[in-house]
Amino acid sequence: MNTRFRIVGGARLQGEVKVSGAKNSALKLMAAALLATGKTTIRNVPEIADIAIMAELLTRLGCTVIRGDEWVTIDVPEVPGHRADYDLVRKMRASINVLGPLVARIGQAEVALPGGDAIGSRGLDFHIKGLESLGAQAHNEHGYVIASAPNGLIGAEITLDFPSVGATENILTAAVLAKGITTIDNAAREPDLVDLGEFLISMGAKIEGLGTPKLIIHGVAALHPTDHTTIADRIVAGTWAFAAVMTSGDITIHGARPQDLELPLEKLASAGAIITATDDGIRVRMDGRPQSIDVSTLPYPGFPTDLQPMVISLNAIANGDAIVTENVFEGRFMFVNELIRLGAQISVDGHHASIRGIPQLSGAPVAATDIRAGAGLVLAGLVSEGITLVEDAFHVDRGYPNFVEQLQALGADVSREASE
Ligand code: UD1
Repeated sequence: MNTRFRIVGGARLQGEVKVSGAKNSALKLMAAALLATGKTTIRNVPEIADIAIMAELLTRLGCTVIRGDEWVTIDVPEVPGHRADYDLVRKMRASINVLGPLVARIGQAEVALPGGDAIGSRGLDFHIKGLESLGAQAHNEHGYVIASAPNGLIGAEITLDFPSVGATENILTAAVLAKGITTIDNAAREPDLVDLGEFLISMGAKIEGLGTPKLIIHGVAALHPTDHTTIADRIVAGTWAFAAVMTSGDITIHGARPQDLELPLEKLASAGAIITATDDGIRVRMDGRPQSIDVSTLPYPGFPTDLQPMVISLNAIANGDAIVTENVFEGRFMFVNELIRLGAQISVDGHHASIRGIPQLSGAPVAATDIRAGAGLVLAGLVSEGITLVEDAFHVDRGYPNFVEQLQALGADVSREASE
């Protein structure tokens, strides 16, 4: 059943929330479990639909997957299957993360091409080129990438044209079992990728340079299963920080790692927020209306593209004008038209959005187009006069476990209802 969020704007969000494990880490750890025969356990796994999709994909590959309360065990057979079907890959792009592990482990993989989505076209060229550099052969056939390396992979020097998160992950999870040394220059440095690297090291991989633009991987003959706890979700934590500032609220965010959110927190401070470290997270307080903030999204440690919709929503009600530049995904301004339905004054020119802040938005029905755009629209609904309906809530559910319950606990007038 398709559902929507019903938000009555005006509440000042106050109280405490707990951030769960990072979706974009847990999914990649699950795929990387394929690298070792036996039972791997991953903890602090968020309760979201994408985890079930990855579990289904791994089950189809012959693994036995058991899920408990925020944990999952994956029992990997000696020879897993090699095909990731389109019906799963189209639902969740992170499915392509099985490509590197399968080619490294069993010398073959057939993974459906994910195609574009609501935030833009998303190529696989860096993933494929990287695997080819390691000695794999790859071609596209009937909508699938067919990759093989019957004689195993061989370490190579690889330079990425752009520090793609997904490509770095697929190359890293292949190189750990390649013969010899692989270097990845211009590698992604996202905290989720560091988490994946530490997971691989706990399986016996030899990796240097995690969190820097140059990864050095010494291939090993085999890896062993592990037990690992996923890092906290920095995008969910960041979303709560924006919610506090936009609603002139006061939220203590348990589990938030300020070191993963340096730039977003700096920007929120310049908007007027008071941010303090707590024992296990951060507290974000705001008095009055935020000042506008100019932001350019960039790969980590730049400002995360996944928090760009929240920045646009904040600027829509801020004091002043702002320019937000999107440098990572070309289609990510699509949701701006929905914000304009709430009265936001925004014009888009290429990858720049100019926003003129107004004191209050005006509630209306809008639709979520992807996870983060949906969350940005919910935040906008919280600061709109009257009722905002955010259709297609399933997008938001993919990234925010118990979103409605958490918003309610902070005092928001939010509920979920069936779409008409
Ligand atoms: C991941 C995150 C996503 C986040 C993004 C950037 C997951 C499941 N998703 O996506 O939430 O917004 O990182 O932080 O972890 N590109 C190519 N060719 C390639 C690979 C990428 O042209 O082979 C381009 C993409 O089209 C995009 C840019 O590189 O414009 C960045 O993509 P990438 O870093 O790979 O993002 P994802 O891993 O897909």
